[in-house]
Amino acid sequence: MTKEQWLQRRREDPYWRRAKELGYPSRAAFKLLEIQRRWKIIREGYRVLDLGAAPGGMAAVASDIVGEKGLVVAVDREPLQLIRPNIVPIQTDIYEARLTKDVQTALGQGFFDVVVSDLSPHHSGDYDLLVEQQLDLLEASLSLCHRFLRRGGNAVFKAFEHPRLRVFERKMMTCFWRVERYVPRSTKKGSSEIFLLGLGYRGPARRRLSQQRPAAHPQEEHQS
Ligand SMILES: C[S@@+](CC[C@H](N)C(=O)[O-])C[C@H]1O[C@@H](n2cnc3c(N)ncnc32)[C@H](O)[C@@H]1O
Repeated sequence: MTKEQWLQRRREDPYWRRAKELGYPSRAAFKLLEIQRRWKIIREGYRVLDLGAAPGGMAAVASDIVGEKGLVVAVDREPLQLIRPNIVPIQTDIYEARLTKDVQTALGQGFFDVVVSDLSPHHSGDYDLLVEQQLDLLEASLSLCHRFLRRGGNAVFKAFEHPRLRVFERKMMTCFWRVERYVPRSTKKGSSEIFLLGLGYRGPARRRLSQQRPAAHPQEEHQS
């Protein structure tokens, strides 16, 4: 596809046009809006860790929902195209050693209520390579959940359909009370993109072995 064909296709994309009208930096905003409409994973005052945040469509949506008492920490190696008082951008690679420290500084005390990972590698055309790199990004995102997500919190992970994704999904099932698969209507037609939702974080599996199930079911946390 030539650059002109790509630009033309983008101009014809209703989600791209709507994103421009509403001032969202990207059409990805609508994916998080659809997820939010269905599961209400983010609430006013929440603290959200947004991984793969640039240019900032999802960060804008999260920022609107959490409001002025909430916080969105937005991580990407590319710059965020959004400046808001409740958004702290961290421009770095997810694999950088300093990431944990920078996120902790931005967060201050406590934990995040939600982790959103929309990270995805540059697609070279080799689908198996794309899936492999995406699985690494998913593992890195899940590690950050273990470090920063509160018990009962929610997570959203962007993935690509592949038999190997099942292994990651099963791992998620050991860490969350409920795991859902979801393809938003705003995902481009023909894309193999899928979102995995972890609802009600329970902690990493091995840490739980010596712990009892909490008295109140944490799923109540994310039910509307
Ligand atoms: C689909 S885009 C994210 C769109 C964004 N969530 C939004 O709402 O506008 C994927 C992002 O992942 C980022 N990314 C991929 N690998 C990364 C890495 N290793 N470290 C940091 N960011 C990375 C890319 O720079 C890109 O901005």
